[in-house]
Amino acid sequence: MSQIILKKERDPSILILDFGSQYSELIARRIRETNVFSLVVSNYISIEEIKNINPKGIILSGGPNSVYEQNAPKCDKKIFNLEIPILGICYGMQLMVKELGGSVISATKRAEYGRAPINIDQESDLLSDVEDKSIMWMSHGDSINRLPDGFNKIAHTENTLHAAISNDLKKLFGVQFHPEVIHSEFGMTVIKNFVYKISCCAADWTTETYIEETIPRIREQVGNKKVLLALSGGVDSSTLAFLLNKAIGNQLTCMFIDQGFMRKGEPEFLMNFFDNKFHIKVEYINARERFIAKLKGITDPEQKRKIIGEEFIRVFEEESNRLGPFQYLAQGTLYPDVIESAGTNIDPKTGERIAVKIKSHHNVGGLPKDLQFKLVEPLRKLFKDEVRKVGSALGLPDEIIKRHPFPGPGLAIRILGEVNNEKLDCLRDADWIVRDEIKNAGLYNDIWQAFAVLLPVKTVGVMGDKRTYAWPIVLRCVSSEDGMTADWSKIPFKILERIANRIVNEVNSVNRVVYDITSKPPGTIEWE
Ligand code: XMP
Repeated sequence: MSQIILKKERDPSILILDFGSQYSELIARRIRETNVFSLVVSNYISIEEIKNINPKGIILSGGPNSVYEQNAPKCDKKIFNLEIPILGICYGMQLMVKELGGSVISATKRAEYGRAPINIDQESDLLSDVEDKSIMWMSHGDSINRLPDGFNKIAHTENTLHAAISNDLKKLFGVQFHPEVIHSEFGMTVIKNFVYKISCCAADWTTETYIEETIPRIREQVGNKKVLLALSGGVDSSTLAFLLNKAIGNQLTCMFIDQGFMRKGEPEFLMNFFDNKFHIKVEYINARERFIAKLKGITDPEQKRKIIGEEFIRVFEEESNRLGPFQYLAQGTLYPDVIESAGTNIDPKTGERIAVKIKSHHNVGGLPKDLQFKLVEPLRKLFKDEVRKVGSALGLPDEIIKRHPFPGPGLAIRILGEVNNEKLDCLRDADWIVRDEIKNAGLYNDIWQAFAVLLPVKTVGVMGDKRTYAWPIVLRCVSSEDGMTADWSKIPFKILERIANRIVNEVNSVNRVVYDITSKPPGTIEWE
């Protein structure tokens, strides 16, 4: 994994060498929370590249291996002589110890997982202001057996003799615990100590500096060329539209393809907001009939997604030809996508990334070969929470910034089985009530997603004196950090009751509401 550091782009103040830890991305986020720019790079980064970047501090991440394993990941040993402060976390500390002449043992007896109070043995810059006996989060099998020359033990736990170590002279530090996880009580203090006290970083990574630095860079990249942006109404593409509008004005064309699967009032809101209020020109493409026609008779979820994805490409291709030509495609790629797919598809001449795949939220397999754009991806160094801040600073309202995630295929994957206009209307009305009541109850921002699902079966009910035979609506509300795992929301009964009452009374063709109390796993958030 290697990062592309474009000319004139801001260099990270803290470089994180990734040894395969599930927490590397989290370390980067935590450091950015201190207003210091950090990037995750491969552990194989060369000394020349590091010198070129000239970071103020380096973090060696944790990792799943043991340092003595045959293929255990390493880094260039010369890193320890660069006179740049280094903090090794877990595996990163063990590797540093081994490379500098100490030793590590595979600690069946001393393995330690979960919370552990640390005992501070010695004053140090790294643990300054960390309370003695405070809880830190441990997750390790191996431990340090013998320290290299020049190192001191600065903290221990009941089961780990070397919970934190330091070589003050060389500014080399190590912790066996994970300061980046939220359960480590003084974890942020340790991170701040390393970032400010030890590495002397300035707190200069802010939303304002990001916008100030990015706008001229976009102008430089694009020149006087035309840029196309597929707007979805989500926070990423909306922020991108605002940023590009500020940078290149009417060289930008936004295109909103209305597949017919948006929620109630969303296409109108989007057009009104961008076009009328902010004068950001949006080409509205009404493709509703095309999409619904393609889904006729289709009941399989995967097939639905595939058809929607393919149709999206077709419409995109036709419309970009009609409105273009465009030299650049703007994409709301975020940093986590870049970490996962870094280094792919680079134009060898210019070093720019080339689109062979539209972002997965459009659910498309790839653009046709003859339709190649260069990419403008100014959000590619940002985490989602940073995008929200940028969007907010540029004037986007909470309605967009705090919008719940909404899948690319939209309501089509919340109607089980065949999709038709009658079911779409029904689901739109039910979904609107769910969101309205969740907002009225003040719960919207505490919930990851709250929505309705329509089941294509009919159940018996009674309304007035009449027997009804109509569809049930499933209510799905979940809490989650990132959508990878989720728990069903414990909504107060009174609110559930209100939602159910309103749906059966106000929505045609529905006579029953059920609440989904499945977590993920084993369930998924969406029903298809
Ligand atoms: P699941 O249903 O897999 O969803 O638990 C996890 C998160 O991803 C969203 N999701 C999608 N997002 N295109 C998207 O852009 C899709 O096809 C898609 N399917 C699911 C889902 O809403 C949840 O936030």
